[in-house]
Amino acid sequence: MLHAEPRTETDPAVHNGLIVDQFTRQAVLFAERNKLEDSLPLMLQFSGVSASDTVLDVACGPGIVACAFAAVARHVTGIDITPAMLEQARALKAERGLTNLTWVQGDVTALPFADNSFSIVVTRYTFHHFLSPEAVLREMARVCRPGGRVVVSDITPEAAKSAAYDRFETLRDPSHAHALPLGALRSLFARANLRQVEMASFGREMEFEFLLTGSFPNPGDAERMRELIHGDLGKDEIGIGAHVRDEKIFVSFPVTVIAAEKTLQEG
Ligand SMILES: C[S@@+](CC[C@H](N)C(=O)[O-])C[C@H]1O[C@@H](n2cnc3c(N)ncnc32)[C@H](O)[C@@H]1O
Repeated sequence: MLHAEPRTETDPAVHNGLIVDQFTRQAVLFAERNKLEDSLPLMLQFSGVSASDTVLDVACGPGIVACAFAAVARHVTGIDITPAMLEQARALKAERGLTNLTWVQGDVTALPFADNSFSIVVTRYTFHHFLSPEAVLREMARVCRPGGRVVVSDITPEAAKSAAYDRFETLRDPSHAHALPLGALRSLFARANLRQVEMASFGREMEFEFLLTGSFPNPGDAERMRELIHGDLGKDEIGIGAHVRDEKIFVSFPVTVIAAEKTLQEG
């Protein structure tokens, strides 16, 4: 049984303040720890990226996804609201000697780009931070050209465990909003006139204490999380498959990658 209360703040300005606060703290460790992550090869593969593509990475954070696409595409633009994350992105671009990337600071709820500007529009580990993922997906579809691809990768908890997962994740990261179960995420695509062409799901395993070292929960909440995860062993009410291996607790985040084509006829 989980007792933590979900965050109820829905004022966009206050929420964006939480985002910038969290990701200013997380920027350096997040940049280090997410380079070899499993969804990136799937995102590249499912997008069908080639040398002629112009790509937008939505809420690009430290630019890991954007730089991987830039190694193949003609040009990549990354947009994010957190300056400290964009600093990491600039450093990664320089480290890789890439010249075909542009960084923009801004809120992705209203993308500052014209309709049909990009051939591929991607985002990783972001939808659960948005107050309205549907609004962001519609914006992603708007700026994608007809026939182009939109690729989203995020945590997709089982529907029955989604509320427990949200409560737990909000303790770990107070800027968490809501992780969409797979069915809900697919419905958003359908409503945005995006026709699914590829999909894959997998578990992203991580040692629990290692996860905590890259997290910035409010005072007292790390201890609360330890209690909850210990209590969830053998139950999996939180939906991240908590289990013991080599006397350590591991969790496995359910990740999905979906790629869809923007249909030629909108509306
Ligand atoms: C978990 S990080 C993921 C970063 C990157 N997509 C990756 O996978 O490496 C979430 C990012 O979303 C950004 N973000 C959250 N809400 C945003 C918004 N409304 N507008 C722009 N960026 C946002 C944060 O600043 C942060 O960099």
